[in-house]
Amino acid sequence: MRYKILLIDNNCAFVKSTKIFLESKGYLVNTACNGQEGFQKVKEEFPDLILLDMMMTYKTEGLRIVKAITADAAIKDIPIIKIIEERKKFSNETKFNQINLQDKNVIEKPINYKQLLNNISACLQKRSSQHYKDTEMVENLIKKWEGKEGNLIMILHEVQNYYGYIPRGIAFDLTRCLNIPLARIYEVISFYNYFKLEPPGKHIISICMGTACYLKGAPQLFKKIKDILTIEDGEITQDGIFQLQSVRCLGCCGLAPVIMIDGKIYGNLKADDLVEIIAEYTNKEEKTSCR
Ligand code: FES
Repeated sequence: MRYKILLIDNNCAFVKSTKIFLESKGYLVNTACNGQEGFQKVKEEFPDLILLDMMMTYKTEGLRIVKAITADAAIKDIPIIKIIEERKKFSNETKFNQINLQDKNVIEKPINYKQLLNNISACLQKRSSQHYKDTEMVENLIKKWEGKEGNLIMILHEVQNYYGYIPRGIAFDLTRCLNIPLARIYEVISFYNYFKLEPPGKHIISICMGTACYLKGAPQLFKKIKDILTIEDGEITQDGIFQLQSVRCLGCCGLAPVIMIDGKIYGNLKADDLVEIIAEYTNKEEKTSCR
């Protein structure tokens, strides 16, 4: 399997020589000469790895792309190797730079190509085990639904059930294996409400807005949850921990007003109870991340 690398840099000579070098090592290399074009290509081509010049036309261009990529759930896991001119110059010139210069995936020009290859292979190794599982899963699904009518929708259903959304990398694998244009796959995904393009939150909070709950104070609960989590209906918190959704009747009207978190019902609630309930989940997450 040949990995796809996207090189984003406005220095034509550097781009040309690096592309030739990496292609000679078996990588497929595509290039972009500015941040805007680069970001567009990341979304369209879903490379396995990005090599990004941190200072192109303007000093914070690279940083802006890193932020845009990490804010996009579909592409945020693509590893980025950041290229800088000189550590000293970079830290002096970008007063507000938020790049950790000790990060082993920050490399300096002139590039030490041996170091670059080591970094690339370390990043890709981490990525390849997940990619292998994904590819294997897609191939099994294709075998299962091969030649059957409506197979694209059935495959997408299985992918959605498995991941909770349709990862962009899987959509790319499907275009390759089914020989269907990517645009057609996204047309189907966006037509059906059931398919999601972003990973779901880790804990799903469903708030009942059915009549019984509504009359017993669901709107106040809803407002309180939105204030605590600073998200709106249907949104996911920035850390990906909570997802909020309003629903119609959870089937336990006698306990109104009701919310459900990951299938567990909380009934007869008052707005103030919510702080403690949500803290219970937040604390659990904090403990898990400390281990
Ligand atoms: S209306 Fe809320 S549980 Fe039925």
